[in-house]
Amino acid sequence: MTAAQASTRSFTLQQPEGFLRHLAAGGDTIDLSGVTLTEIWSLAAIAALARKERKNPLTVVGVEANVRAFAKAVGFDELVDARRAAVQGEEGRTVRLTEVWGEEDVEPVASATAKLLAGEDPQRRSSRDALQYVVAELLRNAFQHSQDELGAVTGAQRNDRGLHQARPTYQVAVADTGRGVRKSLMEQHWDIESDEVALERALWPHYSRAFPYGRTGGAVNAGLGLFYISELVKDLEGRLLLASGSASLVIDTALPQRQRFLSVGFPGTLVAFEIPVETARDFVDLFDDVARRAKERTPRRLVQENLRFEDPPPPVQKFIVSLFLENNAEAQRLAQAELIPRLARKESVALDFVNVRLCTQSFAHALLYEALRISWATRTPIYVVNAQPVVRSALKHVEMYAQSG
Ligand SMILES: Nc1ncnc2c1ncn2[C@@H]1O[C@H](COP(=O)(O)OP(=O)(O)OP(=O)(O)O)[C@@H](O)[C@H]1O
Ligand SMILES: [Mg+2]
Repeated sequence: MTAAQASTRSFTLQQPEGFLRHLAAGGDTIDLSGVTLTEIWSLAAIAALARKERKNPLTVVGVEANVRAFAKAVGFDELVDARRAAVQGEEGRTVRLTEVWGEEDVEPVASATAKLLAGEDPQRRSSRDALQYVVAELLRNAFQHSQDELGAVTGAQRNDRGLHQARPTYQVAVADTGRGVRKSLMEQHWDIESDEVALERALWPHYSRAFPYGRTGGAVNAGLGLFYISELVKDLEGRLLLASGSASLVIDTALPQRQRFLSVGFPGTLVAFEIPVETARDFVDLFDDVARRAKERTPRRLVQENLRFEDPPPPVQKFIVSLFLENNAEAQRLAQAELIPRLARKESVALDFVNVRLCTQSFAHALLYEALRISWATRTPIYVVNAQPVVRSALKHVEMYAQSG
């Protein structure tokens, strides 16, 4: 067998090009004859395309026995037949393909995915936190930017056989069949001449369809989601595939040339993220490192500290963040309706992060970016209580860039 034949016979993230080309060449039918191995990212991609509500659903033929068994185990048929499944799976091994429809599902699906896959083992805590973080960011991107009415498809898997035997990994995938990264970025950035350029810039810190280049954020977005994800994958020595439109960006830390582009993409946006099951890195340190790198690439003013990590004086109104965690639309509503009017009147507010172990940078941004700008203008402090280290780091990072652009 030649190398080319071998790569089309197993659809792995180590060689993503074979699958993407096969998909692109197949039109409305995808023939899996001779394919003996698939990973969750390729099934998530096929499932997203094959969902029944579509006008021209994809037909899948020639499925070999072991691929069929895997597809069955991860709920491929139910998803394609529009039988909506709750997040479930085989503990420690797979998280079934799940269709996610709205922001209110981001936090539950992200934490269930991480928990199902990585469990409570302290050795896997960092990987688990990274998975939760990444799934939340990717699902939210699908809702905020793709305009896919069918929502997003996500699934996850632990790989510990074959190529992965010596170094087991966790893999998560999120796919949508929306307008793609380039079209969405072009709402704001007219100079993006190709899908490749769009993918490269989507990883820049503070680059987003939501605000012009040079600023650090809009009301809802900071343009940091994919930056954090790509930095996490490098630090954790994993792999990332970002396929959209006619191009893909691949980060593979096992290769000498860590980042490369492919001239084949996905009709929508497909992201696959893979990291080792065990890592010596502590997630809090890791997160701080990524925040530091984003800061180094952001212009800075003299920062005045209005975020106070201490108990507020008694009359201050307190808001419980866990009630709307990772629901950025809700965070924004709270900021507009409650936080900003008070701060504008020079009344302090307090945010209570009790029961919040982890929050994404995007969520911290949606909640606090505008509020911090007002608090800065009116010199009125925002109090934060019960914040865990990762939460504290995310909030401090927002405070730093909210005052710079
Ligand atoms: N699934 C998607 N479909 C279409 N465009 C996307 C998708 N995911 C990301 N993008 C584009 O890539 C840009 C960068 O994404 P990223 O997650 O880094 O930042 P953001 O979502 O704009 O801000 P933040 O994540 O900080 O809230 C987005 O603004 C959007 O234009
Ligand atoms: Mg985002």
